[in-house]
Amino acid sequence: MSAALAVRHDEERASSIEDLLLELSMVRGVDEILKTLREHARPLIGADGITVVLRDGDKCHYADEDAISPLWKGQRFPLESCISGWAMLNRQPVVIEDIYADERIPHAAYRPTFVKSLAMAPVRQDDPVAAIGAYWATKRRPAQEQVDTLLRIANSAAVAFTNVSLVSSLVAAREEAVRAKEAIILAMASLAETRDNDTGNHLLRTQHYVRALAEACAERGLYAGELRPGTIDLLFKSAPLHDIGKVGIPDSILLKPGKLDAAEYEIMKTHAELGRAAIENAERHLGTCTPFFEMAGTIAHTHHEKWDGTGYPRGLEGTGIPLPGRLMAIADVYDALVSERAYKPAFSHEDTVAHIASERGHHFDPALTDVFCEIAEMFRAIHDRFVDVQAR
Ligand code: C2E
Ligand code: SIN
Ligand code: SIN
Ligand code: SIN
Ligand code: FE
Repeated sequence: MSAALAVRHDEERASSIEDLLLELSMVRGVDEILKTLREHARPLIGADGITVVLRDGDKCHYADEDAISPLWKGQRFPLESCISGWAMLNRQPVVIEDIYADERIPHAAYRPTFVKSLAMAPVRQDDPVAAIGAYWATKRRPAQEQVDTLLRIANSAAVAFTNVSLVSSLVAAREEAVRAKEAIILAMASLAETRDNDTGNHLLRTQHYVRALAEACAERGLYAGELRPGTIDLLFKSAPLHDIGKVGIPDSILLKPGKLDAAEYEIMKTHAELGRAAIENAERHLGTCTPFFEMAGTIAHTHHEKWDGTGYPRGLEGTGIPLPGRLMAIADVYDALVSERAYKPAFSHEDTVAHIASERGHHFDPALTDVFCEIAEMFRAIHDRFVDVQAR
């Protein structure tokens, strides 16, 4: 080979090892690490075979390989009985010129293979999670350059494994934070609820009413574009937050035994905006937008709007009121009317249905009111199932 060709050859090798290191720095999962090594490592090292061995508890898992003929892909061996295990347990690379002259090698496992010599490097020297092996079909001492390349690749793989585990623990932590926040908010909602109700059953009932009404609409093809199965599930989950804003209303108003005066009612009405703001605030602290919070915020904000535009807080009208708010309005009023409150007695199911029907096109969406009247018996059944037991 001429000197010029040799230089070019070295440059190509250098540039592709840079490519390999770059690729390793960007992987997002263990499968991608394996794929990158399988596709690129062997020609860069100049070996007849390479393996990638993952540590799996007290076993070595021969997870992947690229070799002139099969090695041990898919197999697991005890750490103590294989040379990759030796490299991981001893936290150091090993070069073996003649495998049949080395006591650390399980000779029986090598006999069916082409391997005569090998080099093995642990991945993450301080706490090995894997090892990369290079194998040759002729007995030889691997060149220092080949061993150095193997070590460089192992070091970059170490960074890649660490990145992948950081990313997955970040994702897990974020999911955990979302669940924790949802749980806290639900707990707050039930606290708010138990202030003006004897039990939290109102929350349970309204979520079942809202789902029953939404499912009945979906079955009839009503608002089909807005009511996909996932949406109904989301409605069900976020419905308990509709009155979260009542947390901000003083006891003197919320628990007043009699009728509110005009000033008190104005304060009471702020619970819709307070609820929206509280949920938006939780969302901001969480740093992510989830469909759960978005739906919950919409319901809290819009469940007191009225079809004819006389509701609050914004006086939205008709289909300008988001569908979740229009559904919740019926569920919420049904439950408020059939229940006893500090300020009112319980009304019968029949009187309540008659009242809601009379508000068709005034307070409530006419199409939803019709569906409600058809399935009113389901509302009665849900109420009876989650009835408040007066524990006094
Ligand atoms: P809530 O008790 O959960 O009632 C929700 C909604 O059900 C009410 O929204 C209203 O649309 C309907 N509703 C409840 N009771 C009656 C009733 O006796 N007659 C009729 N026609 N509709 C009724 P609204 O009016 O915007 O009230 C929101 C919240 O304000 C109520 O939630 C309750 O916590 C409080 N509130 C409303 N009026 C009074 C009152 O006179 N005294 C007291 N202490 N609180 C009240
Ligand atoms: C190895 O030692 O490198 C793999 C084969 C075995 O452990 O039997
Ligand atoms: C529903 O499944 O949405 C209504 C029936 C119930 O929850 O009891
Ligand atoms: C909200 O009301 O908070 C958002 C939903 C909407 O009004 O379209
Ligand atoms: Fe409300």
